[in-house]
Amino acid sequence: MIKIGVLGGGTMGSGIVQVAAQNGHHVVLVDLSQEILDRSKGKLIKIMNRLVEKGKITKDQADQTINNVQYSTDINDFKECGFIIEAIVENLEIKQNVFSQLESIVSNDCILASNTSSLSIASIGGVLKNAQRIIGVHFFNPAPLMPLVEIIPSVQTNEEILSKTKILIDSWKKVTVICKDTPGFIVNRVARPFYGEALRIYEEGIADFATIDWAMTTIGGFKMGPFTLMDYIGNDINYTVTETVFKAFYYDPRYRPSFTQKRHAEAGYLGRKTNRGYYDYSENATNPEPVKDEILGQKIVDRIVAMLINEAVDAVFWNIADKEAIDLAMTKGVNYPKGLLKWGDEIGLDIVLSRLNELFELYGEDRYRPSPLMKKMAEKGEKFFD
Ligand SMILES: NC(=O)c1ccc[n+]([C@@H]2O[C@H](COP(=O)([O-])OP(=O)(O)OC[C@H]3O[C@@H](n4cnc5c(N)ncnc54)[C@H](O)[C@@H]3O)[C@@H](O)[C@H]2O)c1
Repeated sequence: MIKIGVLGGGTMGSGIVQVAAQNGHHVVLVDLSQEILDRSKGKLIKIMNRLVEKGKITKDQADQTINNVQYSTDINDFKECGFIIEAIVENLEIKQNVFSQLESIVSNDCILASNTSSLSIASIGGVLKNAQRIIGVHFFNPAPLMPLVEIIPSVQTNEEILSKTKILIDSWKKVTVICKDTPGFIVNRVARPFYGEALRIYEEGIADFATIDWAMTTIGGFKMGPFTLMDYIGNDINYTVTETVFKAFYYDPRYRPSFTQKRHAEAGYLGRKTNRGYYDYSENATNPEPVKDEILGQKIVDRIVAMLINEAVDAVFWNIADKEAIDLAMTKGVNYPKGLLKWGDEIGLDIVLSRLNELFELYGEDRYRPSPLMKKMAEKGEKFFD
């Protein structure tokens, strides 16, 4: 079994280490900070103990996983690794520097992967002498629990590297989807309207946070409403993802960030982590009750879901991934109640199209333009799945 290297022992790195170690690999975790390594080790031991207590794994299995991990502040300890996953700070220059450094340490057949959420894999691989071995492997947080991993070959990636990577990550019992090296990959692209359109509905004064969340959960069937979810992710992080995707798409108005979210982030209303976001999480706080108006709620759901389906259809149109992968990504990566393309089939693409056309006519904004594929399929009465 190949030795796995993980660079960066923060939230994602620690989760990926656990996944690889639980699947029997020897793993080397490297971080600049000993304190972070100690914290990561402590966390793994705690999680393993909890799994033993719950009867999910045996004490031997827990010990095995814990013993599989070597912690180090020296990047040279990656020397023997056959597959390295980088999960350090989201900064291109820093990532490029470490990838150049990695290349001088590991053997020529070691695969170099990045867990980046928003940088292009091509730009990271651009600094490598052997760029054929660069690939994106995008885990979701928390990595041990979220089944999805997006695998992103860049223009430089060799076919064999892609297939070896897929075989490896599949062997970790993850659901893998292959997607193009484009901004936001699948999930962070297709999910944008879940936040953006909800914020827009709020900004127009159509409904408040609580009502939109109520509609999306109770009527829409989503596990969490958009504002609850943004508070959970953190408004700073969610805003940055939106802004990055917006800029990376050459300022396509479909992805335009919202002032409401920016102001919340600027005010330090980051969400749960600061006890205040769109909602107040402090003890004894009272939050507004939703207006449980079924007709209004259905309108909210129809609008946001139409925008989401349009995004998913457009991702098929641009060959970002195949239709099965796009539906899997949204159900396994962000727990949507159903795949968006399947949802489009169920509603009827002609009906989704008419909802988009109505918005497009009302606002006259490019944001609401239907995907050409949606128009073609609706006209012919076609479906994505039988
Ligand atoms: N947090 C998420 O939900 C999430 C989800 C998917 C992908 N990602 C991506 O994963 C990566 C890591 O994110 P995170 O949330 O785990 O970050 P984090 O801040 O929790 O952890 C980053 C770690 O990298 C270490 N580090 C920084 N520079 C280093 C270097 N040169 N060498 C070794 N270690 C270094 C830091 O000490 C820190 O421990 C980012 O690229 C991010 O975009 C994050």
